[in-house]
Amino acid sequence: MAQNIGILITEEKQKKLAPAQPVELWEPAEGEVRIRVEAAAQNPVDWKQVDFNFAIPSFPFINGVDVAGVVDKVGEGVTKFKAGDRVASMTTFATHPKHGIYQTYCVMREDSTIPIPPSYTFDEAATVPLAYWTAALGLYDSPGFQLPLPLDSSDKVIPTVQGEPFLVWGGSSSVGALAVQLAVIQGFKVVSTCSPRNFEYVKSLGAVEVLDYHDANVVDKIKALAPGLRYVYDAISEHGSCEASLACLDHPTPELMTVLTFTGSVPESVKTHRVFAGGIFVPAQDEVRVRLTHLWDVLMREGKIKPNPIRNMPDGLASIDDGFDLMRQGKVSGQKLVYHPWETKI
Ligand SMILES: NC(=O)c1ccc[n+]([C@@H]2O[C@H](COP(=O)([O-])OP(=O)(O)OC[C@H]3O[C@@H](n4cnc5c(N)ncnc54)[C@H](OP(=O)(O)O)[C@@H]3O)[C@@H](O)[C@H]2O)c1
Repeated sequence: MAQNIGILITEEKQKKLAPAQPVELWEPAEGEVRIRVEAAAQNPVDWKQVDFNFAIPSFPFINGVDVAGVVDKVGEGVTKFKAGDRVASMTTFATHPKHGIYQTYCVMREDSTIPIPPSYTFDEAATVPLAYWTAALGLYDSPGFQLPLPLDSSDKVIPTVQGEPFLVWGGSSSVGALAVQLAVIQGFKVVSTCSPRNFEYVKSLGAVEVLDYHDANVVDKIKALAPGLRYVYDAISEHGSCEASLACLDHPTPELMTVLTFTGSVPESVKTHRVFAGGIFVPAQDEVRVRLTHLWDVLMREGKIKPNPIRNMPDGLASIDDGFDLMRQGKVSGQKLVYHPWETKI
């Protein structure tokens, strides 16, 4: 029988997570699949959950959001997958340790899991889920820009706009990289910001202009490049990015998407939206979840989504504290930290 090994959060605001240890081999419930985790990718929410003690229903808890692996067992009623399938998925936030990805076997919902096409490795596929959901909800959902899906009736990927400008603030972040790509697929002319070391990367995602957000004149430069700017996806939403994003808008009905809560002042004419990817699992979001899981599946099948550049962390789950520290210190730039739980020694 397989053994499950996990990394536990055992107390509030834990400085160092408990060492990797045997944990329960969870059974998939109805509509769930158990996944042997081949690649677990880190997101900022993982360390924030620990440091700010939120979205942890009880201790001990296993967290982490983005997973790619192999279906090991399916629960009752599962029709889309069978044991042996390669899949990618996003956790159901804040509910049960079985959904955390920092373990060798986790359990995910079938309806937010997609098959991984052969053109993607497990590491690549693991970089996508939360960033995809955060970007896609912002573009297609309410609250959000509510753009039409870029699919025709036979699921062919088609643009819906013709070269209107679209700004993604923070295009080298995981969320920003997906927002750039979705906006490009939509047909927008995408302008983005990042550090100069990531200019080529963000251009490779399809942005036509990429500017350094450290430049004191960045807003004026964006305004010159993107007259009539209606949509800004601010993938950072802190350190002055919202203020700068607002200053770039140039449209009678401008809209700003943020990924964190912005408490600064917003001109009355601007519609602001705050995305929350963790909310997709509430019943009211059933339709949205199905629709956007389908789009994700199509875009991956068509090879339209470029994964984030990968930095493999050594020693499996044993390096998670180091990975969390890298993010706490703002040392992750244009990369996704990816762990292989099966490399963990206990
Ligand atoms: N609301 C939600 O549902 C949701 C979901 C996912 C993430 N988030 C939040 O979204 C934020 C981004 O997450 P992520 O996973 O994309 O992070 P990430 O990939 O770890 O972000 C790192 C990147 O941020 C860029 N960056 C940092 N400060 C910047 C600034 N002032 N302007 C432009 N770029 C800047 C850096 O760019 P350079 O290195 O090029 O300078 C770096 O590449 C986090 O705060 C996260 O908690 C929210």
